[in-house]
Amino acid sequence: MSNNDSSDQYCSKIVTTNQAGIHQNLDDLVQKHVKTDYRKPYQEHNLEAFYLLQKQIKSSTYQNLILDSCCGTAMSSFKLAEQNPSSLIVGVDQSIHRLSKDGNEEKRPDNCLLLRANCEDLWRLCLENNITFEKHYILYPNPWPKSVHLKRRWHGHPVFPVLKNLAKRTELRSNWRLYLEEFAVAWKLLTSREFTVDSLKLDVSLTLFEKKYSASGQALYQLIVE
Ligand SMILES: C[S@@+](CC[C@H](N)C(=O)[O-])C[C@H]1O[C@@H](n2cnc3c(N)ncnc32)[C@H](O)[C@@H]1O
Repeated sequence: MSNNDSSDQYCSKIVTTNQAGIHQNLDDLVQKHVKTDYRKPYQEHNLEAFYLLQKQIKSSTYQNLILDSCCGTAMSSFKLAEQNPSSLIVGVDQSIHRLSKDGNEEKRPDNCLLLRANCEDLWRLCLENNITFEKHYILYPNPWPKSVHLKRRWHGHPVFPVLKNLAKRTELRSNWRLYLEEFAVAWKLLTSREFTVDSLKLDVSLTLFEKKYSASGQALYQLIVE
């Protein structure tokens, strides 16, 4: 999944799609991924990020771990660290540019680790090494709104089945309701459990994208799966 959302202008655009509803191939695609192990070789930089995480876990005594996948500039990771002082927050993004924005390293709370890595490798490495999370946040993943983009959405990606055992509770947020509805359908195929998408009632923005979408009056949505 590469990044297609770098401009601020893009951030406040309403998502438009050529899909009428849940993608017609979603069911087949998820079933295929459930039956096949995703075995793509790990990239070196993702292995290095994972070793850093292992080292941090071994040398600390946090009560639990919270994962903030695709954390961008890590605003959410920092806020989660403040809200959960006894947890280690692991913020992950593929973009070093975003992770290191605005002197992030100096502002980083002690209980927050930022990793430059691809989630598809890091998630698998964690699970294979019995590292699981109390909570997992996937906040405003790229929507990939065209019908041909299905395989780039997390629920259409071969790594999707890994999410089932990676965290006790996974929270997604998006300004594109259909992304979350599809994720919920895919989750039901994976776990037989049904969860529904809700409107997000926002007091304070948790992420930069959330702040931008909310400032431009867009409706925001939330899906929590367990
Ligand atoms: C729309 S931004 C949202 C960032 C942040 N969560 C927020 O709400 O402000 C999506 C982020 O996902 C990251 N990303 C996309 N694919 C990724 C992948 N496979 N692994 C890690 N990060 C990824 C991008 O670099 C980008 O920062």
